[in-house]
Amino acid sequence: MKTIYVLNGPNLNLLGKRQPEIYGSATLEDVERLCAAACDAGFGIRLLQSNHEGQIIDWIHEAREASCGIVINPGAFTHTSVAILDALNAYEPPVIEVHISQVHKREAFRHHSYVSLRADGVIAGLGLAGYVAGVRRICQLASGAG
Ligand code: DQA
Repeated sequence: MKTIYVLNGPNLNLLGKRQPEIYGSATLEDVERLCAAACDAGFGIRLLQSNHEGQIIDWIHEAREASCGIVINPGAFTHTSVAILDALNAYEPPVIEVHISQVHKREAFRHHSYVSLRADGVIAGLGLAGYVAGVRRICQLASGAG
């Protein structure tokens, strides 16, 4: 079984309760269910969430040995974290960056992403469908398709 890490940054534990007008009413459990269902045969997901930058970095390090790709919504760390970028730069398999909201339509400080300097694909504004597209893309790339 090949494992796709689905990593979520700060405040995403509140998905469904937090600013539903921006992030919708679905929860992180819904994300987990949708991502698991989106996997091709022979693939599985490990969905994780933390409000702590160092914990996310530790999971990226763990993923080096344990995964075939990462789908990551780094939350606000997207816009601030060189350390998460460095961790992803030390990770070889494909990385897809996901944002539930359309960050480019929002405040200027959300327009820059450190993670995009490493990501093989970036998805914003598709709601939870962005995670599904990310998982589908990792399955495709990990199966050797371009
Ligand atoms: C987010 C967008 C970020 O700007 C914000 O800080 C988040 C969530 C999104 O999924 O749209 O926490 O990554």
